[in-house]
Amino acid sequence: AGMETVPGRLLRWYDGHARELPWRIGPARRIAGELPDPYRVWLSEIMLQQTTVAAVKSYFARFTALWPDVTALAAAEDAEVMGEWAGLGYYARARNLLACARIVARDLGGAFPETEEGLRRLPGIGPYTAAAIASIAFDRAAVVVDGNVERVVSRLFAVETPLPAAKPELTELAGQLTPARRPGCHAQAMMDLGATICTPKSPACMVCPVAEPCRGRAAGIASTLPRKAPK
Ligand code: ADE
Repeated sequence: AGMETVPGRLLRWYDGHARELPWRIGPARRIAGELPDPYRVWLSEIMLQQTTVAAVKSYFARFTALWPDVTALAAAEDAEVMGEWAGLGYYARARNLLACARIVARDLGGAFPETEEGLRRLPGIGPYTAAAIASIAFDRAAVVVDGNVERVVSRLFAVETPLPAAKPELTELAGQLTPARRPGCHAQAMMDLGATICTPKSPACMVCPVAEPCRGRAAGIASTLPRKAPK
């Protein structure tokens, strides 16, 4: 009772089951309402754009050891940063990373913009990344939709429209789920649910915190969603 909505169930689950990742703060601080360092959130989101969580972890640790804040990164030599990026691929990300760090350090006094609009003006930050940073680092009620979230939402609402046509509908539904309270934790709860329980092939509905309200599960079609248009 008191937390029966889908976002309520998700947040309660996240408080007990959030993955411990190097760019997150620990559970006690999170539940106390603290937010993670925007620099670390930004760096992690850029690294995670085309790379898995498992592959990003060691790079994130080296970058933050060498350059603990955006001012330090902004002062680094291009070649040193490119050298540390080696292996992550998509090297335009590293060039944009440095360009962005230098703008934030030089023009913005070291402070990242707190809004999606402000973040999107920076190099390397597109709509998804702007929403993720605004949400996770600044607790703005931005609608964060990646592949994991598309899968979770399509199943919760039994959306049978194929991707990519379903995208606007899924974004609308993801927005309806986004709570005013702790939206950053909500966004990461959706990501974690998609990564660990609501997985593509064999979702673990038996342990899912939102199995009860999940319409895809009720209809017996969860594992077939999201549908994809034939290529
Ligand atoms: N993928 C992109 N952003 C992420 C985050 N903050 N946590 C886990 N996986 C992610």
